[in-house]
Amino acid sequence: MINALRQKRIVLGISGGVAAYKGAELTRRIRERGARVRVVMTRAAYQFIGPLTLQALSGQPVRTDLFDVNAEAGMGHIELARWADAVIIAPASADVMGKLAHGLADDLLTTVCLATSAPLLIAPAMNQQMWLAAATQANVALLRQRGVEILGPASGEQACGEVGPGRMLEVDRLIEGLNARFVNDALAGLKVLVTAGPTREAIDPVRYLSNRSSGKMGYAIARASAEAGAAVTLISGPSNLTAPETVRCIAVTTAREMAEAVSRELDGTNIFIAAAAVTDYRSATVGEQKLKRGDEPLTLTLVPNPDILATVAAQARRPFTVGFAAETEQLAVNARAKLEKKGVDMIAANDVSLPAQGFESDDNNLSVFWPQGERILPCAPKEKLARQLVALIAERYHAHARHPA
Ligand code: PMT
Repeated sequence: MINALRQKRIVLGISGGVAAYKGAELTRRIRERGARVRVVMTRAAYQFIGPLTLQALSGQPVRTDLFDVNAEAGMGHIELARWADAVIIAPASADVMGKLAHGLADDLLTTVCLATSAPLLIAPAMNQQMWLAAATQANVALLRQRGVEILGPASGEQACGEVGPGRMLEVDRLIEGLNARFVNDALAGLKVLVTAGPTREAIDPVRYLSNRSSGKMGYAIARASAEAGAAVTLISGPSNLTAPETVRCIAVTTAREMAEAVSRELDGTNIFIAAAAVTDYRSATVGEQKLKRGDEPLTLTLVPNPDILATVAAQARRPFTVGFAAETEQLAVNARAKLEKKGVDMIAANDVSLPAQGFESDDNNLSVFWPQGERILPCAPKEKLARQLVALIAERYHAHARHPA
């Protein structure tokens, strides 16, 4: 792993939880990488670890109070928020996550998080029932949508004696996640166009043909491309997700609308990434009124939609073109066949027959193929996978050095 933490300024937030003791090791390891650390503890964290340990390890005073006369003269909460290149909260309790999700700022840590423009990473640690609770999961989804990176949690035996998800990730993994946030200027100065989500093809005013794509994979790729320095346009089919603020988003509904938007946006694009699950067929006719139920079988005639990816790949001055392949069998054979048939530079294939991966879920797996090589990216959260994929695309793009369309 390249050390990208040298000279970075990290605010480490520690909230109340048994895993708070790992904050000491985390502080030491971040400093070992050449970064500066300032520790902010919540009041509850004091129940689990003493500030003197963290002060000694960080070489800086530990901060807790929002209204601290001495600190306001030197490093007030706004200065601390501006100072940070990244904020990582480890462990993050359910309480802190709830406050962050709802914009509450009643202590120094939550205030710094609200006031900073630096990336925020949080490593949840809590009892498994608390992690699985609907309120916690809703908060996690909201934080993710806003671009907060959730590291973990891991699953296993917990301090409370229960077994399940909720253990804080090991320090090594936290360092890896933090480091990954800085590895990135691989796409600086480039224009990236991403498609995401499903398309919807009307049958009548209330019914449509579509698929289970949520947009999570494509949105994560758009975000990762922006993190890597690209100017990103995301063309999204219907999705409940909120596009990252760092990305320009164009909402479409049908495959033909997506095709038109892609063609409009293609000029000057260096890299095109087609993560959308475009509905391959649409109904030949669309009822003006809701179709009436009858006793006879109903036959719909379906006509093929334009193949957006193949159209882009066929352009004389095309961008570096990356397709996806959603496969349920013979992944490598089918993906390589699509690579050739569609004439793309690279194809990222996911095995969508595996449980809790692919469509809709937070995790995915990717096997990436290009004419002279391949790389397996094993199952991981889509955010992480997207960063790995973007790093690989950047590597292949620079090797390829294709001109913009
Ligand atoms: O959105 P999520 O819930 O996160 O799920 C992610 C995903 C599984 C949808 C995503 O990872 C994925 O695999 N996207 C592509 C799904 C797909 O349509 O695969 P395909 O094998 O049918 O299509 C191959 C490629 O051609 C894709 O890049 C697709 O965008 C493109 N295509 C397909 C048909 C068409 N008419 N036009 C296209 O451009």
